[in-house]
Amino acid sequence: MNPIPIDIRWLVRADYPKVIAIEEECFGVHALTNKELTDGLHGLRNVGVSAWLDDDIAGFMLYELFKEIIHLTDLAVTDRCRHLGVGTVLMKTLIDKLGKHDRSKIILEVRETNLAGQLFFRQMGFIATEVLRNHFSDIGEDAYRMSYVMKGHSPVNRLFQIRKSSGSL
Ligand SMILES: CC(C)(COP(=O)(O)OP(=O)(O)OC[C@H]1O[C@@H](n2cnc3c(N)ncnc32)[C@H](O)[C@@H]1OP(=O)(O)O)[C@@H](O)C(=O)NCCC(=O)NCCS
Repeated sequence: MNPIPIDIRWLVRADYPKVIAIEEECFGVHALTNKELTDGLHGLRNVGVSAWLDDDIAGFMLYELFKEIIHLTDLAVTDRCRHLGVGTVLMKTLIDKLGKHDRSKIILEVRETNLAGQLFFRQMGFIATEVLRNHFSDIGEDAYRMSYVMKGHSPVNRLFQIRKSSGSL
């Protein structure tokens, strides 16, 4: 079976209304506003990418480029396009950026209650490395920091850190 054709493009201003609509559908009261999106993409290190399916935006991601890491700050796929591989194509696009300019790791923070998101990232090869207490200040929700480390670099997961701090390693 042929994979569904998903087109990856840079996010441009004309896409913002659609991005905000997907944000609101996915995150409700926690959605980014148009101002937050515009301000967030203003910085030189901030990047937005859209995924197109059938001439429409099916999903997008926002990330920040640092010297050694990529910080994924947002990823969302519209409800009607879920489970078609859109999220996977977006994440593979990001993973493909590793290895260039000394970048070997992607990090993100996912809400403790967002089990679907955690499972998605886990099957993409991410591992939970840290609990960030009250990370989402809107409702004081904890976050899991999850990391993807490029092959050839050693991942350090939460269990490793707990064992190390308890002296059992
Ligand atoms: C998480 C999200 C981006 C996944 O996008 P998607 O395009 O549906 O993902 P894919 O089709 O590439 O899924 C690949 C695999 O990930 C896993 N996965 C995806 N969604 C899942 C869910 N809701 N529950 C459990 N596993 C899931 C499955 O293994 C899936 O394979 P399958 O469809 O054969 O079962 C999408 O559900 C979404 O936008 N959620 C709301 C926003 C969000 O939580 N973003 C992440 C935190 S910022």
